[in-house]
Amino acid sequence: MDTNGHTTNGNGHNGPAALAIAEPPHYALLKEKIAILKHERDAIILAHNYQEGAIQDVADFVGDSLGLAQKAQRTPAKVIVFCGVHFMAETAAMLCPDKTVLIPDTAAGCSLADMVIPAQIRAWRREHPDGMVVCYVNTSAAVKAECDYCVTSTNGVKVVEQIPADKEILFVPDYYLGSYLKAKTKRNIHLWKGYCPAHAAILPEQVDELREAHPDAEFLMHPECGCTTKQMHLADQILSTEGMVQHVKRSTNAEFIVATENGLLHRLRTQYPEKRFYPASEYATCHHMQRNTLEKVFLSLVKMQCVVTVDPKIAERAVVPIQRMLDIW
Ligand code: 13P
Repeated sequence: MDTNGHTTNGNGHNGPAALAIAEPPHYALLKEKIAILKHERDAIILAHNYQEGAIQDVADFVGDSLGLAQKAQRTPAKVIVFCGVHFMAETAAMLCPDKTVLIPDTAAGCSLADMVIPAQIRAWRREHPDGMVVCYVNTSAAVKAECDYCVTSTNGVKVVEQIPADKEILFVPDYYLGSYLKAKTKRNIHLWKGYCPAHAAILPEQVDELREAHPDAEFLMHPECGCTTKQMHLADQILSTEGMVQHVKRSTNAEFIVATENGLLHRLRTQYPEKRFYPASEYATCHHMQRNTLEKVFLSLVKMQCVVTVDPKIAERAVVPIQRMLDIW
């Protein structure tokens, strides 16, 4: 620990102590057993960028919501262990009805996705009968079944731009991503007032302090950030989690302030050990994502438990806005 109370992580980078937790000793053995089981089950492990480092390490692919959906659709494996939250695993299950999709912990939900339910979409549509409903991928399958288009943080602008210009758009559930899309596309977008609690923990004052302390650092911001509306003009880049990883790869800059859930720091620090990353807030943690652990990944493969399924009648409708998005991007 250095004199500021910060620990140095394995890559020699400084960060708040809470972000640099050493792996338990039994993890090495668990990782070996998971590798054997994966082979026996003909399984692939897909992990979201927010998953704990140990899960990212055993994953065959680590990425953002869009990348994971595309990977699920293309894998020849029979079993997908989806290390992310429930709506992501549901999307994989709908895109791959012939595969078995497991999630390490079925309680890994999404507070943002829970902020809108199907009956609310139907009521909103009645108020705007000519509107097109666009949902963020962070929604349940039942909500997607009520929508016209789905978007992720990577492709939102592109998808919205494909919608006929005379159509008003109803966007659910993330207010901040919706505001960003509205500003970028200049479209008539009505916004639902949902938000992600992990991104809401990132406060503009903290970002200001960090920018002052690290004037050469680039400021990377996820569009779900609650401070987007106030600070959008300050961000050097507004990007999805995968967009951030790819941006860092291209950038000649050596320092970055990262405004998103802090699980992404593991991937950034592993892939770019020569660069420095400062979390915009040490409290930007998604407690749902953290429900998945390496032990639960192991158990899901041993017992083939926590299978994610979607009612076929809902899946038939929900896959339409998802596939429209995948066809555009
Ligand atoms: P990304 O698609 O950028 O990874 O974001 C997913 C998400 O759920 C953010 O909270």
